Amino acid sequence: MDAKVNFITLAVADVGASRAFYVDGLGWEPAFEAPGEILFISLSPTLVLSLWCAVSFEEEVGAIRAGSGMPPFTLAHNVESPEAVDVVLAEVIEAGGAILKPAVQRDWGGYSGYFTDPDGFVWEVAYNPGPIGASLMEAEGLLGRRSHRGVNEVVDAIRSRRSVGQGLLMGGPGLDHGVINEAVESARWAPNHKRTEPWRFYLLDEGRKARLADLWAAQLVRTGSKPERAEAKRGAWSGVSGVLVVTCTSAEDADEKTRLEDYAATACAVQNLCLHLWSKGIATKWSTAAVDDHEDFWPLLGHPREPAGTRIVSLVFYGLARELPKPHRKLGLADVLTDFRGAPLTDSGQG
Ligand SMILES: Cc1cc2nc3c(=O)[nH]c(=O)nc-3n(C[C@H](O)[C@H](O)[C@H](O)COP(=O)(O)O)c2cc1C
Repeated sequence: MDAKVNFITLAVADVGASRAFYVDGLGWEPAFEAPGEILFISLSPTLVLSLWCAVSFEEEVGAIRAGSGMPPFTLAHNVESPEAVDVVLAEVIEAGGAILKPAVQRDWGGYSGYFTDPDGFVWEVAYNPGPIGASLMEAEGLLGRRSHRGVNEVVDAIRSRRSVGQGLLMGGPGLDHGVINEAVESARWAPNHKRTEPWRFYLLDEGRKARLADLWAAQLVRTGSKPERAEAKRGAWSGVSGVLVVTCTSAEDADEKTRLEDYAATACAVQNLCLHLWSKGIATKWSTAAVDDHEDFWPLLGHPREPAGTRIVSLVFYGLARELPKPHRKLGLADVLTDFRGAPLTDSGQG
C-alpha cells in the first residue's frame, strides 16, 4: 500500500451547515454534492474533503464515539507566511467559524492558530518555515496557486518571486504582453530622490529581441567564450517571450551621490516592474550582461551612441515560467536584522 491519503471524510451533523461554512463562507468550490447527504471539495488533484451526513456515515461505518474533549486529530491548512495565518483566521471568523486558539509563535519555529468548523472539527492554520513546510508551499506554487484569496498579495508577490533563467521563460496563450505597459506604469512610481525620474524603458519587438541575442553571442565570442556557449546563449535569449531594457540617465552635472541615488531609484523601478509582472503570473530574469559593450547595442535602441550620463540597469527577460527555481538565501532574518527592541540603551550607546 502506498503512503497516501485521497479522501478525508468528516461525519457532519448537518451537510447544509457545513456547506454554508466551507462553500458560502470560505468560498471553496464543491466538486460534487448530493444536498443534505454529502459534499465533496477538491483540496488538491489527489485529495478530496468529503463532508458526509453523520446518519449515513453511521449506517455504513458504525456508531460514532461520543464524549467531551477535542477530536483526536487536526486538519492543517498551511500558508506561506505568518501574516497569511492571520488573514486566513480573519476570513474564518467572517465565514462563521470559531477561533479555538488564536495564532501564536510556536516552539517548533512556526506560527499557527486553530479554528473549529460547525461540527467542532479542528483545523490548524499554520506557517511552517521548515523544509517540509517550504516544500509544501513550493509544490503549491508549482501547481499554479500562488495567492490565497484575501492574502496580502504584495507580500505574496515579494516573497514568492524568483529569477527564472532565460531558457525557462516561455510564451504561450497565458502570456498577455499587454500587461507589460501596466507593469511599466507601476515601475515609474518607484521612489526617486529630487524627482529625477531617471528611468527609461525600451520594450523590444521580435526583430530587436533576436538582434539583441545576436549581439550578445557575438560579444561572448569576442571576449573568449567557446562558440557552442555563445550559440546556446543566443538560442536562450532569442527564445524568451519578451525583453525590456531599463536604463538610468543622470543629469550631466550630477554629482556622484545623485548618480548613485538615480541608479538606486531605477533599481527600485525594476523591482516594481518584476513584482507587478509576477503578480500577474509572468516571471522575469534581471540580467546585467554586458551586451552594451557591443557597438551596435545603442543603435538597436534608437540611439546612435550611448546617451550622455546613461547606463543600463537591467535587461528584464520575461515570460511564463516552465518551472520555478528553488528559493535560495544564505542568510536568515536573524543574520541580517539587528532588533534593538527590548535591549536597553546604555550610557556608552551600546546594548
Ligand atoms: C542588480 C542585479 C543584477 C543581476 N544580474 C544578473 C545577471 O547578469 N545574470 C543572472 O543570471 N542573474 C542576475 N541577477 C539575478 C540574481 O542572480 C538573482 O536575483 C539571485 O540569484 C537571487 O535569486 P532570486 O531573484 O530568485 O531571489 C541580477 C540581480 C540583480 C539585483
